Amino acid sequence: MREYNNYSLLKHNTFGMDVKAKRYVEYDSEEELQDILPTLCGAVLHVGGGSNLLFRGDYDGTVLHSDISGIEVLKPIENADEVLVRVGAGVVWDDFVAWAVEQGLGGVENLSLIPGEVGASAVQNIGAYGVEAKDVIVQVEAISLTEGTKRIFSNEDCKYSYRQSVFKKELKGQYAITYVTYCLQKVPVLKLEYGNIKAVLGEKKEVTIADVRQAIIDIRKAKLPNPEVQGNAGSFFMNPVVSREKFLSLQKVYPQMPYYEVADGVKIPAGWMIEQCGWKGKALGRAGVHDKQALVLVNLGGATSDEIIRLCDTICKDVYDKFGIHIHPEVNLI
Ligand code: EPU
Repeated sequence: MREYNNYSLLKHNTFGMDVKAKRYVEYDSEEELQDILPTLCGAVLHVGGGSNLLFRGDYDGTVLHSDISGIEVLKPIENADEVLVRVGAGVVWDDFVAWAVEQGLGGVENLSLIPGEVGASAVQNIGAYGVEAKDVIVQVEAISLTEGTKRIFSNEDCKYSYRQSVFKKELKGQYAITYVTYCLQKVPVLKLEYGNIKAVLGEKKEVTIADVRQAIIDIRKAKLPNPEVQGNAGSFFMNPVVSREKFLSLQKVYPQMPYYEVADGVKIPAGWMIEQCGWKGKALGRAGVHDKQALVLVNLGGATSDEIIRLCDTICKDVYDKFGIHIHPEVNLI
């Protein structure tokens, strides 16, 4: 366990905000977390890789971070086609994906190179290229931050939907995830339908999950800014879902508008709308809109959170004025 006071969070948020936490504690096991809990007073924030956070200022409380490691294949539950893998919440997400691909285990290769850690994958229901974490999560182990007791959540208990879970809603801030168990395929079923995956794979006949991982890495690197070079938190906004009626009326005006049919309506890519509003590659002060993917806001160097929020608010207003659709940040404002 490592503990620091008045600790800089610069390395713990990919937006590159130079803010401080009153207290920062990093624990290595469930037992260590249970020992820390009675010592906590005031506000508590549990962070993962800090890739989906925007700090508005210093954090006047305790920031907790899990360093629980380990990737364990659960042999007894193994059957012919699938294997259960239990992963520590502090494992870097893409290290887990790389491990799975090396083992020839399918299911997470489309989620290659997503920043963040395993614990956050289960909170955020991370998703990309036609796959979401919920498709592979079997169970989530968590410790109650108020009681110190352990609870096991089934996939259903987590109430997953697009970038949502019980951990972001009803139970927000109440649990620290310690382990996530994923179900991976021994005989991978490739998902290549989304966007330009097939185009990037080219003519290749026998495509492996390693090829898919490489294709996804290439696509992401071409579109998304590297947080080590330019502060950002991936997609800043969620893609809104609108009613069929609303969609049909918009489609008359914008026949080229991309869309995805979903259970509760039609999803419109916010990045496309932001680009249509003329924001792609533009900036307000030191806060900018990425020039290759308008869904991503970037810190052009030394931006304050107020500058990012001002840009966010201006974009939301412009999108509403043009399309009559409210878009909302995916990034958590702290
Ligand atoms: N588009 C534009 N202009 C833009 C951005 C997008 O016209 O500036 C259009 C694209 O041409 C495409 C559509 O919008 O027709 C969708 O774009 P893309 O495939 O790039 O995906 P997205 O909907 O913008 C979502 C996720 C990403 C994920 C990609 C790929 C959310 C909030 N974002 O973005 O996730 O990588 O799909 O699956 O759902 C993240 O969450 O941080 C993230 C990067």
